[in-house]
Amino acid sequence: MRYIGGKALLLDAIIETINSETENVHTVIDIFSGSGVVGNALKAKGYRVLSNDFLYFSYVIARGTVGISTEPSFANFHFDVLDYLNHLTLQDTEHTIDQCFIYNNYSPNENCNRMYFQNENAIKIDLIRLQIEDWKNAGLLTEDEYFYLLAALINAVPYVANITGVFGAYLKFWDKRTYHPLKLEKPSIITTDKQILCRNVDYKQLLTEKYDLLYADPPYNSREYLPNYHILETIAKYDYPQLQGVTGMRPYENQKSVFCRKNTVHSAFETLIKDCQSRYLLISYNNEGLIGTEDLSELCREYAVGDSFRLVEMDYRRYKNKIPNNKAGLKEQLYFLRRN
Ligand SMILES: C[S@@+](CC[C@H](N)C(=O)[O-])C[C@H]1O[C@@H](n2cnc3c(N)ncnc32)[C@H](O)[C@@H]1O
Repeated sequence: MRYIGGKALLLDAIIETINSETENVHTVIDIFSGSGVVGNALKAKGYRVLSNDFLYFSYVIARGTVGISTEPSFANFHFDVLDYLNHLTLQDTEHTIDQCFIYNNYSPNENCNRMYFQNENAIKIDLIRLQIEDWKNAGLLTEDEYFYLLAALINAVPYVANITGVFGAYLKFWDKRTYHPLKLEKPSIITTDKQILCRNVDYKQLLTEKYDLLYADPPYNSREYLPNYHILETIAKYDYPQLQGVTGMRPYENQKSVFCRKNTVHSAFETLIKDCQSRYLLISYNNEGLIGTEDLSELCREYAVGDSFRLVEMDYRRYKNKIPNNKAGLKEQLYFLRRN
């Protein structure tokens, strides 16, 4: 999925830094996992991974992809589960339109002006989400299968949403992609014999874990993640929240990040670096983030073992050269240090 600050294009640099700067690294925490691409790349390289994000939909993606070691078999079903879900209609279920939260709140109808989804797709999202929960409650799905299906749903939704990448606002005219029927695709699962764990907690709760390396890719600026992905969070939780405002935002007081505020970002980084019990720490950031390069480097130097601290800077344009208005002078950074 396209994700703000996603590292799909930086994977080689991350792996290369781990290879060149460290020894005997077998276990890695991806503590701000977002779209899960870094965790998946580490899993593919044979690391034992702990993936974490405080947003539930991000956890769902990780748990349903990175967190699965072999393709689920859906042993309790004698039909193709994804195909069945892709063709689900109201007539196939006992659910009513009143239960369809996405249809009732994010698709135009007599009670709603919001234009996030065409009616058919909104209802489909609801029916699929409700069906997955029904199967889980009936004991028909293993935990892996449950999250695999939820991840397939979360990954499919942006392709039919009337947005320009994030869910902070919807377009006033229907984009042509919204006319395509929602289609779940099989999430690609990398097989591994290593233990993979997924968590959904605040980063502070995992700093005492003793892994070989902790990879930290926190938010860079004041743009919070939840408002930009609020509908994915609601689909993942399906908790019928009380919505607010023109865009139908769910409440998110508990999901504001200390990395997104000028007055908390320094102490947030100090906690990350000081309390990190893993042997190595690798931080992704950029040179226009809320904390300046000098301040972050100083924190790293203060807590680094010996002179282990390194700062690698990469020209943003070098790996995002397909984006027309990329910013000159913007650099992606990797801060590396040994902690103990
Ligand atoms: C820059 S993104 C990570 C992108 C990810 N590396 C990728 O490639 O997709 C930052 C992530 O940090 C998460 N986050 C922010 N504050 C957090 C906190 N206090 N604890 C855990 N996760 C947090 C956000 O939800 C967001 O997904």
